[in-house]
Amino acid sequence: MEIRRFRLGDEAALFRVYFTAIHRVASRDHSSQQVEAWAPKDLDVDLWTRRVRGIRPFVVELGGEIVGYADVQQNGYIDHFFVSGAHPRQGIGARLMARLHEEAATLNLTELTSDVSLTAEPFFTVHGFQVLERRYPTLRGVTIPNAFMRKALAQGG
Ligand SMILES: CC(C)(COP(=O)(O)OP(=O)(O)OC[C@H]1O[C@@H](n2cnc3c(N)ncnc32)[C@H](O)[C@@H]1OP(=O)(O)O)[C@@H](O)C(=O)NCCC(=O)NCCS
Repeated sequence: MEIRRFRLGDEAALFRVYFTAIHRVASRDHSSQQVEAWAPKDLDVDLWTRRVRGIRPFVVELGGEIVGYADVQQNGYIDHFFVSGAHPRQGIGARLMARLHEEAATLNLTELTSDVSLTAEPFFTVHGFQVLERRYPTLRGVTIPNAFMRKALAQGG
């Protein structure tokens, strides 16, 4: 398993990870209407490309295939955190989370935050995050509840 920074050209593979994570894994905790609104099959390619180039995530490769990705922004906010639906519970998320913590230490961050899905909440809890607020954002007309979670880091990560 290798973790590297995002490269131009990764966009389509990241969409496959996002799509399968939501359609195969998050679908256990969400209605089909929520799944469709969260990850539409026909999601605008330009919109997606701008989005993933904007967050500049870390990317996990396994045997040459991209199987996960996650970002951490300069203020400690984690925007995306997804592991391929074909590779669940294999420790890929844990490796990515460790890499985000290394980056947080490099950036001297004092906290990590994220709007975490119901599916990912147990995983973020295992990694030391706590729920600060339950939220009910609407995406493409459908409400998809999440939790704003935070983890305080020791000074300097
Ligand atoms: C949440 C997610 C990133 C976890 O990735 P993963 O590679 O499967 O996680 P790991 O294998 O590293 O799991 C590490 C530990 O976290 C916990 N964990 C992970 N997924 C869990 C789940 N669904 N329920 C309960 N605990 C979970 C477990 O303690 C697990 O250890 P174990 O498998 O030995 O019991 C992945 O399931 C995912 O992408 N989910 C769907 C999309 C999503 O909601 N993304 C987040 C948006 S904020």
